Amino acid sequence: MKPPLIVINFKAYSESAGERGLALARICQAVARETSTSIAICPQVQDLSWIARQVEIPCFAQHADRFEPGPRTGYTVLEGIKAGGGLGTLLNHSEHHILLAEVDEAVERARSLGLLAIVCANNTRVSATAAALHPYAVAVEPPALIGTGMAVSKADPEIVSTSVETVKGIDEKVLVLCGAGITTGEDVRAAIELGAEGVLLASGVVKAKNPGAVLRDLTSGL
Ligand code: G3P
Repeated sequence: MKPPLIVINFKAYSESAGERGLALARICQAVARETSTSIAICPQVQDLSWIARQVEIPCFAQHADRFEPGPRTGYTVLEGIKAGGGLGTLLNHSEHHILLAEVDEAVERARSLGLLAIVCANNTRVSATAAALHPYAVAVEPPALIGTGMAVSKADPEIVSTSVETVKGIDEKVLVLCGAGITTGEDVRAAIELGAEGVLLASGVVKAKNPGAVLRDLTSGL
């Protein structure tokens, strides 16, 4: 996966479940190929393995638990994500917060398994804390803008630029993504101009009438 990245979080929307999730994944793959851009997806957990086996673009889990495989019920373990064809996982999304110690353990375990961890951060302090764990990427997303269509890169540019500065000051290898309200190529361009190496978004694509058209526009901002 070569940055800049567009990461589409399918969340738990009905528009991205089951067959609709697979159709959306195929659209993401078609646009990635057509535009020669890096588009990764985060399918719903029950569809992850099924979708990962039918597309070639990178598939991430939306969440992972830190536990090792074994007698546990209802958890998503990293080994299971890997066995299912996942390339990595989001961790600590604003809609699925976990304790710092759990993020740390999951990042370490992901690394040892060769999986990529994208740690979400709700503000610059948390971006800094996440960077100190040396994940693959930190994705800064102010919760108040999530799902609003008001792009973080325009409504709160400072959180993006300060996160970039802070994260890179801690570990320049950690990628910085931003998300919340991103829906257009212009939003993506603004994010890149602020130093972000990609975007994480959901509703703008998942709930779009024509996700392919939205994705093409998004890639125009890279
Ligand atoms: O994980 C992506 C995210 O929380 C942003 O959501 O709907 O504002 O693109 P959305």
